[in-house]
Amino acid sequence: IITTMKSVKLDEHQFQEYLSAEVIADKVAVLGAKINNDYTSNDPPIVIALLNGAFIFAADLCRQFDFECQLQLLRVSSYKGMESTGKVKIDHDAEPDMNNRHVIIVEDIVDTGNTLAAYLPTLKAKGAKSVKVCTLLLKPEAVQHDLELEYVGFEIPNKFVIGYGLDYNGRGRNLGAIYSIVANK
Ligand code: IMP
Repeated sequence: IITTMKSVKLDEHQFQEYLSAEVIADKVAVLGAKINNDYTSNDPPIVIALLNGAFIFAADLCRQFDFECQLQLLRVSSYKGMESTGKVKIDHDAEPDMNNRHVIIVEDIVDTGNTLAAYLPTLKAKGAKSVKVCTLLLKPEAVQHDLELEYVGFEIPNKFVIGYGLDYNGRGRNLGAIYSIVANK
C-alpha cells in the first residue's frame, strides 16, 4: 500500500480518501492545544490509549503535550471485520495505578460506543480524580450510549473507515490518511 493514494482496495471493498494526513495533523494540533490548556505538569494526567486502533493517534497526540504525562497502551477489543461484536474484552492487568490521578482515555473512533460504555464505569472504582475522553473520530449516528466526550476531532458519517491506525481485518492501519468505504454492500 502506498500511503499517499487517493483510493485503496482491500478485498472487494473500495475506499476513498476522506481526511488527508495534513487535515488530521492540523486536528491533532488543535486537540493537543485544548488538552494543554486543561492540564499542567503539577498534576499531570495518565493517558490511556485503547489498542489497537488508537496507537498512531496517541503517538501523535502525546507529542503535542507540554506537560509531563504517563502514557499507557491498553488492549481492548470488540470488532471482527466491519461489525462490532458488542462484547468488549479489556486487559485490566495492564492498567496503571489511577488513584488520585487525572485520566485521559484516547480512542481512535467512537462508533457504537460499546467499548467506552463498558470501560468507563470500571474507572470509578480505581480512584481517578477525573476521567476525560479524547477521540479522533465520532460517528454520531451510530452511538448507542450516553457518553461524555470532552475532546472530539471529527464527527463523521456512519461509514466504515480505515487508515491512521484504523483497520479492516488487520489491514490498512499504516495508511497516513483516513479512507471511507465507497459502497458497504
Ligand atoms: P465502538 O465500541 O463501537 O464505539 O467501537 C470502538 C472500536 O471499534 C474502535 O476503537 C475501533 O477500533 C473499531 N471501529 C469502529 N468503527 C470503525 C471503523 O469505521 N473502522 C475501523 N474500526 C472501527
